[in-house]
Amino acid sequence: MVKLAELQKFLVDKAIIFPTAEMYGSFAGFFDYGPLGVEIKRAVKQEWWNRFVSRREVVGMDGCIITHPKVWEASGHIQAFQDPLVECKKCKMRFRADQLVETKLKMNVEGLVLKDLGRIMREHDIDCQKCGGELIDPRYFNLMFSTEVGAVQGNTAYLRPETAQVMFVDFPRIFKSSRGKLPFGIAQIGRSFRNEISPRNFVFRGREFEQMEIEYFFNKNSKPTETLPKMEVTVWTRSAQEKKEPHKKTKISELLKLTSEWHVYWIAHSMKFLVDLGLRLENLRLRQHTKDELSHYAKDTWDIDYNYPFGWKEMVGISNRADFDLKQHSKFSGNDLSVLDGDERVYPFVMEPSFGVDRLVMALLIDAWHRDDERQTLKLNPKIAPVQVAVFPLVNKESMPEKSMEVFNQLSNEFRAFYDDKGSIGRRYRRQDSIGTPFCITIDGQTLEDDTITLRHRDSMNQERVKIGKLSQKLSESF
Ligand code: GAP
Repeated sequence: MVKLAELQKFLVDKAIIFPTAEMYGSFAGFFDYGPLGVEIKRAVKQEWWNRFVSRREVVGMDGCIITHPKVWEASGHIQAFQDPLVECKKCKMRFRADQLVETKLKMNVEGLVLKDLGRIMREHDIDCQKCGGELIDPRYFNLMFSTEVGAVQGNTAYLRPETAQVMFVDFPRIFKSSRGKLPFGIAQIGRSFRNEISPRNFVFRGREFEQMEIEYFFNKNSKPTETLPKMEVTVWTRSAQEKKEPHKKTKISELLKLTSEWHVYWIAHSMKFLVDLGLRLENLRLRQHTKDELSHYAKDTWDIDYNYPFGWKEMVGISNRADFDLKQHSKFSGNDLSVLDGDERVYPFVMEPSFGVDRLVMALLIDAWHRDDERQTLKLNPKIAPVQVAVFPLVNKESMPEKSMEVFNQLSNEFRAFYDDKGSIGRRYRRQDSIGTPFCITIDGQTLEDDTITLRHRDSMNQERVKIGKLSQKLSESF
């Protein structure tokens, strides 16, 4: 199992992902992506967009980060988007009360009211983790970042804590101007902000992060017509959690006995996307939310958990938001957001697959990172490798650099290509293995005679000779 501290060191050393403003001692919960990291992240987002937006009845949008304050009143975030906070009376350090109890007592306190959380903490003498000082009773802390808009003081607005709400408030305009027919989805990729009390586990719980979300609007009496992908998956149902039973393997179609057809449809397609992207099925689990932990807007929620080095944790949340949001915005704005579905006027129900980009990139890196005495390899799916093909002249003479440049220029039109002429060929291969480059091409003496190159495969380390004219087609077959 990968150790988080070791992976983190690797990612920081290679400037793939690292804490922001390191020279000022960093800034908890905020991370930057360097040249390789940004390519991986961009490729992951592109794959998601290609899968869910470009080829379906789903359209994209790009909404504002600072959103009208009324949006968050209507959505319930001002009242309910909060975590229980405790503060040390001595050193003033702040902690999330539920996380303290869960870590110390290994008990699930999801959904407990403040009074009960406080009682448990007192009964078990839970003190400050930093200095051992006494903690004040838990109180709620709203996670939204606020700011002031314009020159007038008191004009408070919020940085969005989810991309979702912008899609609800823009629904009428986009629906009318696009398909105008249910089912219909709006998708968005963008930054969200949460003033997490205890950011932790590297980018897993950040204060600024990216989400890829779809709001999928449908008539609650309709059903998907597409057949489900066939998969066997690990599932932890609500009832198994309540009975303290372990998760178990089941066919994805079995979920139809537990939740609605549209929900299973989005769960199955989200799982399939993750596996196609390169995640190992055995590291994925579906977990249904217990009644106590359901968000205020959700009728039912299923998380796709990933088996991170610090345990099974949510990577994707798939919620049935019913007609909660459209009705709330109708009420608060005075605009009726119901639509015609044939002859029937309805408030569409909404299914929401919500992917955290940073949690997904982290999981992909964990699954891909392999080390042995010989080498360190990032076995990323070629589609998301930051460099897809590296081109080397065997030596820096005899026209090999010129020929290599020619091949590099040709390939860089189609692939993320990299040119390297420094160090021994073995070292160049190792460098590319460690950053996940699936293919390396070496131009040698024979190239100058017969126009063939050596193509070296990252995972098998096999080498083969390929005609330069056939290279592009050969590589494309692997993507
Ligand atoms: N619109 C629904 C929503 O935002 P959520 O479960 O709060 O639901 C969805 O968040 C996804 O966003 C999570 O599954 C996770 O991947 C990501 N996410 C949430 N909070 C995060 C944080 N503090 N840092 C990184 N990713 C986060």
